Amino acid sequence: TGIMLGFKVSVLLFAVCSLSKCSGRFANSCNYPPAQWCDSQDIAAQCGVLEQCMKFNVTKPNAAPVNVSLYYESLCPGCRQFLVLQLVPTFIMLQDIMGIDLVPYGNAQEKDDQGKYIFTCQHGEDECLGNMIETCLLSMLGIDAFPVIFCMESGVDVLKAAQPCLGVYFPDTKWDSVMNCVKGDEGNKLMHQNAVKTNALKPPHEYVPWITVNGEHTEALQDKAMASLFNLVCSLYKGDKPPACGQGLKKKPNSYCMN
Ligand SMILES: *[C@@H]1O[C@H](CO)[C@@H](O)[C@H](O)[C@H]1NC(C)=O
Ligand SMILES: *[C@@H]1O[C@H](CO)[C@@H](O)[C@H](O)[C@H]1NC(C)=O
Repeated sequence: TGIMLGFKVSVLLFAVCSLSKCSGRFANSCNYPPAQWCDSQDIAAQCGVLEQCMKFNVTKPNAAPVNVSLYYESLCPGCRQFLVLQLVPTFIMLQDIMGIDLVPYGNAQEKDDQGKYIFTCQHGEDECLGNMIETCLLSMLGIDAFPVIFCMESGVDVLKAAQPCLGVYFPDTKWDSVMNCVKGDEGNKLMHQNAVKTNALKPPHEYVPWITVNGEHTEALQDKAMASLFNLVCSLYKGDKPPACGQGLKKKPNSYCMN
């Protein structure tokens, strides 16, 4: 958010100057870099941007983010639909007030084979591979993996899309490094963690996509999230609502993959 703040402050500076109030007054008395202008009312006043900083502060998050976890599997149509049409678009608009945790595993099963795990997936081996690629991307890139996963899940062929999708967003990240994780012990361990996390759900999941909000799953929350995750996050956020919450996202139909 440091970059974001810098960006907003320079837009602010532009706005101030473009109103031809960019007088020498604050050039003489303002000894702070733009990134600090909104740090206190004093500094803001010295730098001639008090009014703008008050407005800017109002739109800053001032409560705990709403945390949404998605338990899913890479080839389940309902999961793909939710991820592509709801989760990622909502996150793009509300990332200041929400946290997302993706857990690719879903209705898969695991067997311990002398320290290594063998996974079986609802939609076959391709799905296990898709889950593993996405798990490795999340481990390597953190939330920056979201656009890559979005790109994969919105493609016709999730697996074939993986490498080109990585190339679009991370041209400098080698596909081989992803595949090393996918085929190696690291991926195996990470997927086991997804299994443990999924199997620890209370209540246990009955289908995917399975959604928890702030760690909790109820039928009501699930239904609201599936109807409009965007509206749910806006309504649950306890701080001042960001401007985006006044606009909304269009409602889309949903479907499930039963466990
Ligand atoms: C903006 O918010 C910060 C932290 O909430 C506060 O310390 C600061 O004084 C505020 N700035 C202005 C200009 O009100
Ligand atoms: C969401 O998760 C963050 C980080 O773990 C935590 O600080 C925050 O309190 C959580 N939000 C809610 C509403 O519990």
